[in-house]
Amino acid sequence: MSSKAVFDDLLQEEREFPPSPEFAAAAVVSDKAIYDRAAKDPVAFWEEMAKELEWFAPWKEVMSWTPPDVKWFTGGKLNLTHNCLDRHLKTATRNKAALIWEGENFETRTMTYQQLHTEVCKFANAIRSLGVAKGDRVAIYMPMMIEAVVAMLACARIGAIHSIVFGGFSPESLSDRINDAEAKLLITADGGWRRGNVLRLKDEADKALAKCTCIENVVVVKRPLGEPFPCHIKEGRDHWYHRLMADASPDCPPETMDAEDPLYILYTSGTTGKPKGIVHTTGGYSVGTYATTKYVFDLKPEDVYWCTADVGWVTGHSYIVYGPLQCGATNLIFEGAPNWPENDRFWEMVARHRVNVFYTAPTAIRAFMKWGDDLPAKHDLSSLRLLGSVGEPINPEAWMWYHEHIGGGTCPIVDTWWQTETGGIMITTLPGVCTAKPGYAGLPFPGIQATILNEAGEEVTGGTGLLAITHPWPSMLRTIWGDHDRYVSTYFSKWDKSVYFPGDGAKRDAKGNFMILGRVDDVLNVSGHRIGTMEVESALVDHPAVAEAAVIGKKHDIKGQSIVAFVTLKGGATRSEKTESDLKQHVVEKIGAIARPEAIIIGGDLPKTRSGKIMRRLLRDIVEGRTASDTTTLADPSVFEEIREMYEEKFKS
Ligand code: WTA
Repeated sequence: MSSKAVFDDLLQEEREFPPSPEFAAAAVVSDKAIYDRAAKDPVAFWEEMAKELEWFAPWKEVMSWTPPDVKWFTGGKLNLTHNCLDRHLKTATRNKAALIWEGENFETRTMTYQQLHTEVCKFANAIRSLGVAKGDRVAIYMPMMIEAVVAMLACARIGAIHSIVFGGFSPESLSDRINDAEAKLLITADGGWRRGNVLRLKDEADKALAKCTCIENVVVVKRPLGEPFPCHIKEGRDHWYHRLMADASPDCPPETMDAEDPLYILYTSGTTGKPKGIVHTTGGYSVGTYATTKYVFDLKPEDVYWCTADVGWVTGHSYIVYGPLQCGATNLIFEGAPNWPENDRFWEMVARHRVNVFYTAPTAIRAFMKWGDDLPAKHDLSSLRLLGSVGEPINPEAWMWYHEHIGGGTCPIVDTWWQTETGGIMITTLPGVCTAKPGYAGLPFPGIQATILNEAGEEVTGGTGLLAITHPWPSMLRTIWGDHDRYVSTYFSKWDKSVYFPGDGAKRDAKGNFMILGRVDDVLNVSGHRIGTMEVESALVDHPAVAEAAVIGKKHDIKGQSIVAFVTLKGGATRSEKTESDLKQHVVEKIGAIARPEAIIIGGDLPKTRSGKIMRRLLRDIVEGRTASDTTTLADPSVFEEIREMYEEKFKS
């Protein structure tokens, strides 16, 4: 491809939302000078952040870089659990709630930092007694429960590398990941609740284990509170958590870890191919998650912080466990779904726990828009003071809805762009000093150097292009487990091998704020115009009847591609022939005739990954008349079949 623009620039957004004077005055970061300081010397900025943590031995060099490989804090020794737990035992944080867990059936359990420390030390000794040592891999397959956090921290305590597999993944996904990492221990649970159904995790794990030879032992947590779920225990291999804990000593000094020792592997499927085992290391990841949590979420000691992710995703790793615990935060963690038993469960919980900082995903926000404004209106959400979004581009209308109906028109929103690979937040607004714009993630976090390049590697100033990160940062991935070549070819081969390629399209406004336009693999090409999915989808979501939209390109003899849109409507909106023509017209008005969809399929839902991302790849399969390439990562396969039928019905004539 030539050096012409990679995407066309379609969506214009000028609304601006500065923080209120009260928010700004009390913010953790209240001076924008931090950006300039960090830009001048990012390495010095990260070193300053690292000094806020406790190290067993200082580093000899802050960063050593042989592109594309990098090391941070070389020679430094630490243990991440020391910074999450032990460090707080010397202060009043010791008796503060570290975790407030709520089960789907409204049970709650609270654990202070001191109690969590004891629990982690005991479990670390327990898994050591099962032969797990520094460098060994441990697979974790659990519902959202306190013990999932304990399991992660216990591994980190003794230097074992955890690999969490989201509890909603199939036995096959679990066995693939166990085998790829050659894990020797699996930690799971008898089960958990999901939308009124029992998730029998141990049964699922047993199916996976039939295909694994590397696992020597299995620890099974009996779900605390409520009835336990019956499951099979294989003598000699399987051990009940509570039995191991009864005999375990609470004395477990943290293993001394080198800054570059691996901390965990997390598999990410991305859009194509076999899942990649993303490897994060100890020192840089500690510093990156600590700094971003502290500055982006603006945490105050008295806050209740709620990130609605699952520990099975990177958001759970970085912003439920490692970042917030290093900051001494009080974390609400929730077992269940946003719509059980009713569609207002989240708001009911925000009101009851007096949540102050709330971090969720656009897919959830768009679902709430669909379910209606009256649900949040029923609850007292006045405790909220900061909102966050992660996982996909948040369409400006969804941003506005979140701002008005959840944030009471006053809470700043931090739209955080980052990836499993980046370990921590890369682009966002610092809420006390930045003016937010709906649809724009904002500025690179201090110490992060991001730009926009075209295919030829030239910087794009006014328009759209490919997002690029031009300088290493501490929490970046170091490799793909067992496949360093794939690490180099996926992330460092687009341009110069010193530049990281995230795979997303982006544009910048005059002030340097980034808007993320969607995955480059999903880009549309209509009559030679390269159109990002985010812009057309946002124009559709801007229509008052639309809750969610996904657009893809359909082969077209003249235009190359035409646009097919799949949309779901808000609660109360009705579908008619007119809706379709109205929506097409709306897109034309918002962004121009070039983006007029050829067809609009109005269905009940869109195919999504289990972490809530729209799977445009599968919609492409439908439109191109192929059998679905891979539906194993779908949250609900029946949605896919329903859409296929609707599509075929529409194009029959
Ligand atoms: C997308 C999740 C726009 C993006 C932490 C990225 C976003 C991929 C945003 C990584 C955002 C995530 N705005 N797009 N705020 N956050 N993405 O690995 O395409 O599950 O490359 O990490 O999600 O997804 P992952």
